Amino acid sequence: MNGIIFRKDGTAQGVAKQRLIESLAKPNERVINDPYADRFVLGASLIKFLGHKLNVWLAQKLVPGFHEHLISRTRFIDDLIEKNAASEFEQYVILGAGYDCRAHRLELPSSLRIFEVDQSEVQARKRSKLPEELPNAENITYVAIDFTDQSISEQLLDAGFDQSKSTVFTLEGVSQYITKEAFRSTIKDVATLAQKTNSIVFVSYANELLNKVPEACFGAGYPSAEKRARLITYGSEKVGEPWMSFYTAEEMESVLWQYGYSIVESVTLKDLNSQYFAPVGRTIPENQLLQLEHFVIAKSKK
Ligand SMILES: C[S@@+](CC[C@H](N)C(=O)[O-])C[C@H]1O[C@@H](n2cnc3c(N)ncnc32)[C@H](O)[C@@H]1O
Repeated sequence: MNGIIFRKDGTAQGVAKQRLIESLAKPNERVINDPYADRFVLGASLIKFLGHKLNVWLAQKLVPGFHEHLISRTRFIDDLIEKNAASEFEQYVILGAGYDCRAHRLELPSSLRIFEVDQSEVQARKRSKLPEELPNAENITYVAIDFTDQSISEQLLDAGFDQSKSTVFTLEGVSQYITKEAFRSTIKDVATLAQKTNSIVFVSYANELLNKVPEACFGAGYPSAEKRARLITYGSEKVGEPWMSFYTAEEMESVLWQYGYSIVESVTLKDLNSQYFAPVGRTIPENQLLQLEHFVIAKSKK
């Protein structure tokens, strides 16, 4: 497969692009660092040439806060994995991993077994772009799947998932791209896989308000909120991956609860502003804040 963009990886590239932009910031000014992101992004050389500040400025002109939203999502999960994985978990399943390289970027214990799950074409391109020598490569198993019509439990068990081992599952930036039915059956499979032991699930989901009352998802004074909301969903649709599923907080809580998970944390960019951006001198002003997605951590009720 060559490096040409193909229909299935538009949004995976989009997120990798923001990680690349963030990684260009000085070490004491950045929120995350992904030294592999440039490998997956079309036009990476130009992005590098423009540098962090100009790219962030351009992103702000288009949709203020969008870059920070994606970066805070990645950082939030990085923290969850680094803080909990080392002490608590034996397996990590990255559902819809795309071009995320958390498995290689973070300092993870060598005992942590990692499964990356995504569409086969995306995985093939990812693997063709990664260097041969990679930290932690021996601990990763790639599992190809389409959430729409395949069961993750069957595929993961075939790939060596161990049901007696404690596991953390993350679904980062995926729930809006799959049907509610596919999401529900994925969570059901997660619960089945983890029924004998402790598990944690991270899910990001798009707030239903974005469709119904877009202004409610943006900070006070945010410019043309409705237009920007449309721009975000239009961008995804244009690369062939429309946002099709939106949730209320109650709906998400109810799906997770039904399959044995209770929410222990639910945050948005607004909550993470002081935690991630203030310390590096980049506090996001109220009129650039958006609450596009909620980031949820749920624990098994055992
Ligand atoms: C927005 S990207 C996020 C990727 C990654 N989690 C990240 O944050 O960089 C969405 C990912 O979901 C995957 N995806 C979307 N629909 C899928 C499906 N039906 N089956 C499997 N993976 C899917 C895409 O291939 C893509 O990698």
